[in-house]
Amino acid sequence: MDAATVARLKRSMRLESERTGPPDGFPKLPVIPAGRYVDPEFLALENEWLWRKAWLYACHADELPEAGCFRLFRRTGSPILVMRGKDQVVRAFYNTCRHRGAPLVTACSGKVEGLVCGFHGFTYSLDGQLVGLRDRRDFVGLDMADFPLAPVRCESFGNWIFINEDPDADPLLEHLGLIPEYLEQIQPSQVRFVNRRSYHVKCNVKVLLEAFLEVYHLKTMHANSADRFLDYRGSTIVLWPRGHSLMLTPNRNPEWQDPGTRGMRRIGTATEIIVSNNLSLNFYPNLVTPVDATGNPFLLFWPAGPREMDIEVAWFAPDWGGVELDPLWETRLANFERILEEDTRFAEQIQESVESSAYRGNTLNYQERRIYHWHEELDRRIGRDRIPERFRIEPVLGPWVAD
Ligand code: FES
Ligand SMILES: [Fe+2]
Repeated sequence: MDAATVARLKRSMRLESERTGPPDGFPKLPVIPAGRYVDPEFLALENEWLWRKAWLYACHADELPEAGCFRLFRRTGSPILVMRGKDQVVRAFYNTCRHRGAPLVTACSGKVEGLVCGFHGFTYSLDGQLVGLRDRRDFVGLDMADFPLAPVRCESFGNWIFINEDPDADPLLEHLGLIPEYLEQIQPSQVRFVNRRSYHVKCNVKVLLEAFLEVYHLKTMHANSADRFLDYRGSTIVLWPRGHSLMLTPNRNPEWQDPGTRGMRRIGTATEIIVSNNLSLNFYPNLVTPVDATGNPFLLFWPAGPREMDIEVAWFAPDWGGVELDPLWETRLANFERILEEDTRFAEQIQESVESSAYRGNTLNYQERRIYHWHEELDRRIGRDRIPERFRIEPVLGPWVAD
């Protein structure tokens, strides 16, 4: 992040705390219809056009340390195997035998020498080629070269591995736009994997995701935690193309240091933007990361049905150079979990309200514009013509999106 960007962001936080209303010309944001959170017809469109065509975080390179290490990813409903090959390349395939569709692996993660289908024994190499099958004489005209495992796009940003079921998707780094530039300071190719944990919540995935796209709720939901050190009124937002966005919230006191991170290893390349403020990025659609010099979590919001979701939290830290993790991480993770509990407190009741016939939809203010931006991108991806009028939202934020 260059000095000009740092200066621009600092100025913009100052302007936000001094303003008396939204900037001139900022539009009234139309209501987001409640049906977008409950209606099966809308959710089917979302599933087909968003989740099955998006770049989604799968795992960290440390989770696949050796050839044959794999993880099974099933967040989109398709079984996807992410695996390190003998050539050290990480690839993704559908976990689906080309004979009659049985799985090649059944565990969530592990290590294998090769892939042998448990049904009739078709055998695949670690790079997905069919290399053996029993009773070949009985398959008429079968050429093994025509039956590799079906590939899934798999690309990395630093040590973070993403997959995309859309073979025609733009390359990951092109999709991420300016995000890598903002994260350079935490050295994405050096960050190590700390741990991951998943929490199940009974609400539509968007209900909870949206709580992480604004800080308007700090004063009430986090009165005894985040609000004590963050000044939400100075928060500045950048909306980017493709639905991504940034939110930067100043610390009430620039000298303040989170007691929960005291004594932890800090990355030397961190700028004052992440040292004296809270920087949070949304990689569209479902990854939110608050960035810190001592490490950052990826908060991943996964649909698990129309009214169910999982929030998965994967933590990363600057390379600590050894095997043993600093025991201070235990407190760090526990502190974070407390804040997460605050954030999820109303999610199930909100879902209940959204499903009641009285509820029309969400009314957003200027501070909540990242949520509207998120929904505009959703309609763009689905294709406005495919969306029944009662669920569609008017695109109004175009002029407020940065190049
Ligand atoms: S389904 Fe895999 S070998 Fe038959
Ligand atoms: Fe929150």
